[in-house]
Amino acid sequence: MCGIVGAVAKRNVVPILLQGLQRLEYRGYDSAGLVVVNEGKLQRARSTGRVSELTQKSSTTLGELGIAHTRWATHGVPSERNAHPHLSSEQIAVVHNGIIENYEELKQKLSGQGYAFTSDTDTEVIAHLIHSHYKQGKSLLEATQAALAELVGAYAIGVIAADNAHQFIAARKGSPLLLGVGDKENFVASDMSALLAVTRNVVYLEEGDVVEINLDSYRIFDAKGNLVNRPLMVSELSNDSVELGAYRHYMLKEIYEQPQALANTLEAVCNSKSLVPGLFGAEANEAFQLIDRVLILACGTSHNAGMVARYWLEEIAGIPCIVEIASEYRYRTSVADPKTLVVTISQSGETADTLAALNHAKSLGQQHTLAICNVPESAIIRQSKLRFLTRAGPEIGVASTKAFTTQLAGLFLLTLVLAKMRGRLNGEQEQKFLHELRHLPSALQAVLNLAPDIEKLAEQFVNKHHALFLGRGLHYPIAQEGALKLKEISYIHAEAYPAGELKHGPLALVDKEMPVIAVAPNDTLLEKLKSNLQEVRARGGELYVFADANTKIASSEGVHVMQMPEHAGFLSPILHTIPLQLLAYYVALQKGTDVDKPRNLAKSVTVE
Ligand code: M6R
Repeated sequence: MCGIVGAVAKRNVVPILLQGLQRLEYRGYDSAGLVVVNEGKLQRARSTGRVSELTQKSSTTLGELGIAHTRWATHGVPSERNAHPHLSSEQIAVVHNGIIENYEELKQKLSGQGYAFTSDTDTEVIAHLIHSHYKQGKSLLEATQAALAELVGAYAIGVIAADNAHQFIAARKGSPLLLGVGDKENFVASDMSALLAVTRNVVYLEEGDVVEINLDSYRIFDAKGNLVNRPLMVSELSNDSVELGAYRHYMLKEIYEQPQALANTLEAVCNSKSLVPGLFGAEANEAFQLIDRVLILACGTSHNAGMVARYWLEEIAGIPCIVEIASEYRYRTSVADPKTLVVTISQSGETADTLAALNHAKSLGQQHTLAICNVPESAIIRQSKLRFLTRAGPEIGVASTKAFTTQLAGLFLLTLVLAKMRGRLNGEQEQKFLHELRHLPSALQAVLNLAPDIEKLAEQFVNKHHALFLGRGLHYPIAQEGALKLKEISYIHAEAYPAGELKHGPLALVDKEMPVIAVAPNDTLLEKLKSNLQEVRARGGELYVFADANTKIASSEGVHVMQMPEHAGFLSPILHTIPLQLLAYYVALQKGTDVDKPRNLAKSVTVE
């Protein structure tokens, strides 16, 4: 989603802004721009291309104060005139993430005051609004605070004024923003990775904060206008982990990082002899005794992880579980139960729908909240009582891969802890599961070795327009995840069905043009699945089957079998995810799409 970088320094800040934007490219964007103050004037450059194009366009731009932005269109098409920063009267410049809901009303009012609009964005009203206060003699801070009081919606903003060479204002409400503190230079960014080259000292701004930033000082005001102190922290994000290295794409790098990501995530249990609720936070023991059901809220891939967990939680822990798409839950009238453990799952921890769903669940009196998340200082972590950090490292590719498998590992641990507390896991079973978890990284490594075969198989998908994914039970959500991966990066329309549902409709779609991908673990549903595959073959459908060893599914005309290792029991969904990620990757590669930044999508969806 949109990215913000801002800087004030006693040196030219343009390279800092551009490098920061480059670091934010992974979030997805359709245009980029920056503005600096140069000899009392605003100097702006914008581009609808990549940041590299903006770099060329701003080769003569110089300044010691500037703000920059990557835009992901919400109001107004992707175009140069809609790209940020937006200016008012050549005096005020603004970059903005989020959505201003009352912008039409404000636009009318400002037009009445003589302001001419040059874009279709909601952001431009912020620039004019601040200017309308600034020209009355207010300071930049006061003018921004006055403007913010009139806004309805979500924002993270950076603001500069042409006649203020070494000061800028930033503010956040509903969209993430942080302050980077340097040595006689200061910065803001929507994501810490943008600032790693210039500082590691960070202040995470809170809801409603407004900050006035100077060369060697800053002042933070809370939503009520009170001067406040926020803790200064040292970011532990590694610079190397956001480098592409020898890989061609972040997605491929992240697929291959999964054995290590899982090992890191499971580190806490690798050396322990037993599972304890404390894995989820100091208050988990008490909270887990007070709950008798689980509600999982998430979006996209994280939702698919939740769907797998539902099977685990009900079968192993015997606890009722509902999984809801966060954007639906937040607006649905649901029956709340205070004995519910509300679990949010999110890679970024900033997904607006998931965050809103969490707050909605809390507002209904459900106070036992657990976040399973990959970003330690994210909003979802901060707003949940309990937490489990997936230690996948930064995930840059828009298509989520290592976050998903580490989320599954965290959810499996949750299942085991709840099962143990409910008397459904004896010592022997606990040791067996711990052993299987410790073995997971190497089991996953073995599946990665299928990559060359899958690359070859992918050739058969390049000219297809549709694909059907089938799975049953625990592996139905894995089929869904496979379909999501394929559609988002290769743009092939893909759908997933529980295989038993075929004959209730989707079978009508099957002919020789419809590749059907089946997830075939050697579990209790195998024979049922085989019958479903026969139904496909009988209609001329081409089958691509990812089958565990000993399933006795053999390649034949129209049936392509990829041999997986032996069945991994309850952990099988984690292993079966890998070939589907690789398939999506190689199909997209061969189609020549932008694998890491697929069209129309953003990495972190911080708007509704
Ligand atoms: O950061 P989150 O896990 O909350 O993100 C949720 C979805 O936006 C995300 O999983 C999305 O579906 C991915 N692009 C899928 O690969």
